[in-house]
Amino acid sequence: MDKIVIQGARRLKGEVEISGAKNATLPIMAAALLTDEVSRIEGVPRLRDVQTMIRLLRVLGAKVDFSNGALEIKPSRTLKTVAPYHLVSTMRASFCVLGPLLARLGRADISLPGGCVIGARPIDLHLKGLASLGASITIEHGFVKARANRGLKGEDIYLGGKFGSSVLATANVLMAATLAKGVTYIENAACEPELVDLADFLVKMGAKIQGQGSHLIEIRGVQKLHGAKHRVITDRIEAGTFMVAGAMQKSNDITIRNCNPEHNHALLDKLQEAGIRVRRTKSTVRISRHGKLEPVDVTTLPYPGFPTDLQAQLMALASVTPGISVITEKIYPDRFMHVSELNRMGANIFLEGSSAIVHGKSRLSGAPVMASDLRASAALVLAGLAAEDKTEVHRVYHLDRGYENIEEKLLKLGADIKRERE
Ligand code: UD1
Repeated sequence: MDKIVIQGARRLKGEVEISGAKNATLPIMAAALLTDEVSRIEGVPRLRDVQTMIRLLRVLGAKVDFSNGALEIKPSRTLKTVAPYHLVSTMRASFCVLGPLLARLGRADISLPGGCVIGARPIDLHLKGLASLGASITIEHGFVKARANRGLKGEDIYLGGKFGSSVLATANVLMAATLAKGVTYIENAACEPELVDLADFLVKMGAKIQGQGSHLIEIRGVQKLHGAKHRVITDRIEAGTFMVAGAMQKSNDITIRNCNPEHNHALLDKLQEAGIRVRRTKSTVRISRHGKLEPVDVTTLPYPGFPTDLQAQLMALASVTPGISVITEKIYPDRFMHVSELNRMGANIFLEGSSAIVHGKSRLSGAPVMASDLRASAALVLAGLAAEDKTEVHRVYHLDRGYENIEEKLLKLGADIKRERE
């Protein structure tokens, strides 16, 4: 296992290029199963989660080639329909092969993804949506068994849950409905940009979809889809992580290139409120910090609200912002594993229900810390960059699930960071 070693308190300055979006790539890879023709997906980041999805598609019977950031996927005519435990349990997004397999082959046996370290992760909305399209669904021996022997049928579906809309449930139902007979309406659909990207890819495959990016999506089923070529959008969570990196220390000045500032509106608004200088063009954001920062109050919400995937990173910033910040988690109320690790670095954070009360100070001190999940790892790296002395972030394999070349990118910005074998 690797660890990341950071000598903190170095000024960050320069430019960083953002990679393709992990959360757009994974469902789009699953969507490629909706045809037996070749699809080409470009701008794909080199990440562990992408490798896991490649393995799953190969197990299901697709030929997959990944070179120079482009994936070519050629599913066989008769795909296998069982997604095994060892792949689905390591990555929840693999559950979104359910919709495409069911729609194309009328059956799918997908291992239950189970919980994960950020809290309970139910799948009721996925199953409710697919059942509304006419699938019969049972859960046996840890597998979801979905059958639609006579095909799927369009329906009006309300997909709201206790915590609002669901990104991957919307993706699963959207993909399945492209080949259903008749018209499907998904109400309370998720509006995340990654979902719009998925819909755009499906339209290129021949699907008839309207309303993506709003809470009401209309899908007119077609008989067949074909292969398509698509470039995935850039990763707003990676971009947001670098935006926070730029805000962490006085006199930092970094330009984030190849991003879509519109997708990071909620974060940029908070950074400006805190006193960060933000200058944007259509595809770049320059973040510079001069004086003192003000504390912030943030609540995570579905898009276009503040993303839960940037909550931990913002908490690292709040930890070095004198005053009291309040960060409330409304998507995953237990997503606070980074709190104890930030406290090991001298932060002063306590939890009150699903809110973190952060008593910020001007400096953290480097310490050995343990990454517990993908975004918590990013928060610990950010904290290490701004802390005095040495920070060691252990279990960085989490980071490799979602950040392409993060050390190289930070090194280029002037950070003192290296990866070492444990
Ligand atoms: C996606 C993202 C993940 C992000 C999350 C929320 C991918 C690959 N992953 O995950 O990075 O943190 O959106 O923005 O795109 N829920 C239910 N029932 C369900 C499904 C979800 O109650 O059937 C709940 C969840 O527990 C959570 C909320 O709905 O409280 C939103 O989760 P959801 O949008 O489904 O997350 P994912 O799509 O799994």
